[in-house]
Amino acid sequence: MTVPTVSAAESLWLDRVSPTTYPAQRDAVQVDIAVLGGGITGLTTALLLKRDGARVAVLEAARVGTGATGCNTGKVSALQSTILSTIRGRHGAEKAKVYAEASLAAVELVAKLSADEGISCDLDRRPAFTYAADDTEIGAVEREAQVAGAAGLGVRLVDSVDLPYPVAAAVRLDDQVELQPTAYTQGLAAAVEGEGSFVFEGTRALSVEGGSPCRIRTSGATVTAGQVVDATHYPLLDRGLYFARLEPMRSYCIAARIRGAPPQGLSISAGSTTRSIRSYGDLLIVGGEGHETGAGEASRARYDRLEQFARRHWDVDAVTHRWSAQDPVPYDDLPVVGRYTPRSSRLFVASGFMKWGLTGGTSAAMLLRDLLGGRDHPWASTFDPNRITLRAVPRLAQINAKVGLDLVGDRVRPAQTRSQVDVPRGEARVVRDGRGKTGVYRDEGGEAHAVSLRCTHLGCLVRFNAAERSWDCPCHGSRFDVDGAVLEGPATEPLERKKT
Ligand SMILES: Cc1cc2nc3c(=O)[nH]c(=O)nc-3n(C[C@H](O)[C@H](O)[C@H](O)COP(=O)(O)OP(=O)(O)OC[C@H]3O[C@@H](n4cnc5c(N)ncnc54)[C@H](O)[C@@H]3O)c2cc1C
Ligand code: FES
Repeated sequence: MTVPTVSAAESLWLDRVSPTTYPAQRDAVQVDIAVLGGGITGLTTALLLKRDGARVAVLEAARVGTGATGCNTGKVSALQSTILSTIRGRHGAEKAKVYAEASLAAVELVAKLSADEGISCDLDRRPAFTYAADDTEIGAVEREAQVAGAAGLGVRLVDSVDLPYPVAAAVRLDDQVELQPTAYTQGLAAAVEGEGSFVFEGTRALSVEGGSPCRIRTSGATVTAGQVVDATHYPLLDRGLYFARLEPMRSYCIAARIRGAPPQGLSISAGSTTRSIRSYGDLLIVGGEGHETGAGEASRARYDRLEQFARRHWDVDAVTHRWSAQDPVPYDDLPVVGRYTPRSSRLFVASGFMKWGLTGGTSAAMLLRDLLGGRDHPWASTFDPNRITLRAVPRLAQINAKVGLDLVGDRVRPAQTRSQVDVPRGEARVVRDGRGKTGVYRDEGGEAHAVSLRCTHLGCLVRFNAAERSWDCPCHGSRFDVDGAVLEGPATEPLERKKT
């Protein structure tokens, strides 16, 4: 069975593990709880529920831990850039406190699960820093220190970090966690499987019918379950209008072998040109260059800028890995974790982790465990997916105006060429050949791969992502390979193949 991984193949984390080999679902299965998605969110949720006595089935479209969970910087931290100031500004001090408490609990849970289950994932305790790259960022750092302190984090202001360049100020939080995220997630999957619980790979959830029990149609068969958790990263089902509230943002990472001592802390800059830094053995990892999915300049230029940054500050021997991924960002800057719609009693969701979902996906699992068990939880109202944040309505309008523009604007954009023959090897073009516009990629061997540009989610037109060699949808982040197979949802159906 060929199972696609859902993101860049060059991720350091994916490169350093052996692929898992859980079977695809072939026969009908009945469990207490079905969890859609085998990333950190789905697997942590499944494990906690199994520990509470439930029989669970995790349905993973690709391989566990190969989605966003396999393509990040591998920090689990309650200090997350200047996120607490943002939440404090939009939602007030109480919700900032809940976010900080949930993040801190996630750090501890990751360390505990790793120890309990004997997961070998290079987990270490490290100090986390948010630093001001120059004087203009000092205010943001001081504000984060103040808000984080008031929210209950044991932060302190410092004037140096273990980076080879001066910083203008920094806020420090000790005892946070770095790990190998895919190894950790594989360990979670191993703990989930068995004793009446299942992990299925290469098994895509296609639809969910509510009811008692819920019925999930998958690429293999059906699963019936008393309750369902959608942890597919971007919510799968259109009910709940999540696509109108979550904006996919893409970011990039490189790993480089360096001469000299690698940094030991988990650092991130406070300004708009984000640089997220940590090490892994003798490798330096630098992340940043975020942007809206499907928008802006070619990804290669973004990798180049990360490499230039690394070479400017460290003695780089070689860049060994480049990878990128996207993460949904909610319009009001708080994850969505809880009941799928206000009336759902059996269907739950966890998404919108704003590039901090190793942490947020773990705390989401803690919250979902109680909600599915019929218990209230002190974090529930903060993360309630059905909240309306009036202060963030202009941002909501902005996201949806952009989707509208993407939907309409691309249709009137001219094709790039009139003939498939003109598409060079290793490149893609939008071709108008008399039957409408087609996306054509010509591989290095000269073979053309042609697909419809119409995204099967809600019909926006996909754009070629040269670095990942995929067709990406700017509206809600679905991604497809050059033959149209779904790499990342919310789309569940492939792009239509066209004649070459
Ligand atoms: C560059 C970058 C750096 C980051 N760094 C950090 C960091 O240092 N710390 C941190 O906390 N967070 C970080 N994040 C964010 C973090 O990686 C994500 O928020 C987190 O991994 C999300 O986990 P998840 O389980 O929700 O999603 P995923 O890991 O994407 O898991 C979802 C799974 O669902 C599967 N799936 C999708 N559709 C279906 C379907 N229909 N049926 C079945 N399965 C399906 C997918 O194949 C996937 O495996 C970073 C993000 C980026 C982009
Ligand atoms: S992802 Fe929604 S239209 Fe493409």
